[in-house]
Amino acid sequence: MIEGYPLRDLNTWGVDGHCSAFAAPETAGEASLLLERCVSEKKDFYILGGGSNVLVQDGLLDALVIHTVKMDSLSIEDGGDKVRLQIGAGYSVRKLLAWAVESDWGGLEFLVGIPGTLGGALWGNAGAAGTGFADLIESIDTLEPSGPRTWKNEELCWQYRQCPLNRKVSRMITGATLILKRSQPETIHEKLRLFSDLRKGQPHGAKTAGCVFKNPVGASAGRLIDQAGCKGMRVGGATVSEKHANFIENIGNASAQDIYTLGETCRERVFEQSGTELEYEVQFFGTFKKTRQ
Ligand code: EPU
Repeated sequence: MIEGYPLRDLNTWGVDGHCSAFAAPETAGEASLLLERCVSEKKDFYILGGGSNVLVQDGLLDALVIHTVKMDSLSIEDGGDKVRLQIGAGYSVRKLLAWAVESDWGGLEFLVGIPGTLGGALWGNAGAAGTGFADLIESIDTLEPSGPRTWKNEELCWQYRQCPLNRKVSRMITGATLILKRSQPETIHEKLRLFSDLRKGQPHGAKTAGCVFKNPVGASAGRLIDQAGCKGMRVGGATVSEKHANFIENIGNASAQDIYTLGETCRERVFEQSGTELEYEVQFFGTFKKTRQ
């Protein structure tokens, strides 16, 4: 465990917070010991994967941040027409997709353009156009207050951008078992093209955390924020993307508070205009208070 650790390079918004304690365990056993220590010492903890869907508070985050990057094991059981993969939570989804495409295994094409780790992607049920991990997962391994547990897919609850586990109880995802089916390279590439096309209207190369809000049932958060006139709105170094209104870009040393204040302003404007309450998709590390603009 390291005391005092900068988080700027570990979150895609590039926000400059730091945590009081940091650890990067290599195994679920090591992670479990760290969590037990936090519980017995009544210390807050946060689990960090690729940092692509999190807002880390400014200044000191008085908590242990457990970075899963070293829990990146991959074991492959090739069954001919299908393959069983046991994957550590810290495995990069980009790397996983690249491997699957190269080896003609289908099903993961929806991951094109999605950053982060398997654990983070599962925790937030990442996906595109209604496609995600639900049909590919055999089981998910977690650490619970009672110890390690393996959840069979039938026990999980898959809903749009919601953790399939009980987020308030399960402490962290440590890995998962996926089943992929053999596919034709042309089919895989066609799907990759289709999913890439869906992302053409999004800002690329900018410092963002993907979509900030979940889409409300039957509506689009991006369209609502756009219609509320928020595109281009700015707070400090943060701006609502001109390309896609559900993205906030850090265009110059934005603080977490800048980003949060801008997010809250969008939420307020959308509520005033449409009566819809937007729900955050990004996860918060620390506490945030509304400040008036
Ligand atoms: N729209 C606007 N103005 C905007 C942005 C969008 O009018 O500024 C309109 C579009 O024209 C379109 C509709 O809103 O008619 C929906 O927009 P889009 O097709 O861009 O999809 P989305 O619902 O905003 C979702 C996911 C993305 C995923 C894409 C493609 C959510 C919150 N967002 O975006 O996921 O990449 O579909 O599958 O579910 C993410 O979750 O971080 C994310 C980026």
